[in-house]
Amino acid sequence: MIDTTGYAFVTGGGSGIGKACSLLFAEQGVRGLLVADLNLETARNTVAEATAAATNPAFRAEAIEIDVSLEASVKQGVEHMVKSFGRIDYCVHSAGIPLRSYAPVASASLLEFQDLNRVHVQGTFLVTGAVSAAMASQEPKPVDASSPERGVVRGSIVNMASAAALITPPNMVQYSAAKFAVHGITKTAAIENAPLGIRVNCLCPAWTETPLLRQTMDAIPPLNDQTLLNGIPMQRIGTAKEVAQSAIFLCSTWSSFITGLALPIDGGMTIF
Ligand SMILES: NC(=O)c1ccc[n+]([C@@H]2O[C@H](COP(=O)([O-])OP(=O)(O)OC[C@H]3O[C@@H](n4cnc5c(N)ncnc54)[C@H](O)[C@@H]3O)[C@@H](O)[C@H]2O)c1
Repeated sequence: MIDTTGYAFVTGGGSGIGKACSLLFAEQGVRGLLVADLNLETARNTVAEATAAATNPAFRAEAIEIDVSLEASVKQGVEHMVKSFGRIDYCVHSAGIPLRSYAPVASASLLEFQDLNRVHVQGTFLVTGAVSAAMASQEPKPVDASSPERGVVRGSIVNMASAAALITPPNMVQYSAAKFAVHGITKTAAIENAPLGIRVNCLCPAWTETPLLRQTMDAIPPLNDQTLLNGIPMQRIGTAKEVAQSAIFLCSTWSSFITGLALPIDGGMTIF
């Protein structure tokens, strides 16, 4: 059995990939779950669904409102987690906003560039920083009591990058630049945190069926059900649960020697 019996903090947990991670954490036996989202109502709905799906008899979940782009809000969210649950074993940072326009760098919108940077880059910087600090001050646990050579763990952070953090699709410079930065923050934090027993990885999904994807397609007609499949060898888009399964793997002790990874979940899109 995969070991995920600790306490999970999920940003963007009210929808899409963050919601799928929250539900899977509950199914896989976490003791505690804090669902944090800009939209408190959807975060509460996730808590209700997670509570119904939970397998750990000690399971307890809460919802809070958070804006990951604001330092005070992130600090408050992390403090809430530590106060209410005692520690943060797993952090999945999935809060994000969609791309709204499609243009080459010569005419791309500065306003949108700034918006995506604020939420994705600043948000990842703030969440990774605050969670790293909280994890660094908590007691380490053995990875596996029967294999002391595997050392100790204080926590695991999984950020949400994108296939666009590995390749550079044209007309998406705002999104791609932001996701390359998420990748960079993840690798820096992984090196710094490694001696402390804190692992930091990021996921690089290609198109994944979520409300964000539908908003992107509504705003950008050239991205439609047909064109999305161009460049995906497996000829389909991904599911939020497929991304969540990799997130939970990277939080669990099954990935105890993996840090600084940018894992594609992309039907082969980034092979080329
Ligand atoms: N869906 C895809 O195709 C895809 C592909 C690659 C990467 N991603 C990334 O995965 C992450 C999750 O995307 P999703 O598809 O699940 O989107 P989604 O819209 O379904 O969920 C995102 C959640 O983040 C919340 N949110 C937005 N801004 C926030 C803020 N400032 N503070 C706190 N919460 C905020 C929203 O309320 C929403 O609940 C994003 O970073 C996205 O860029 C998505």
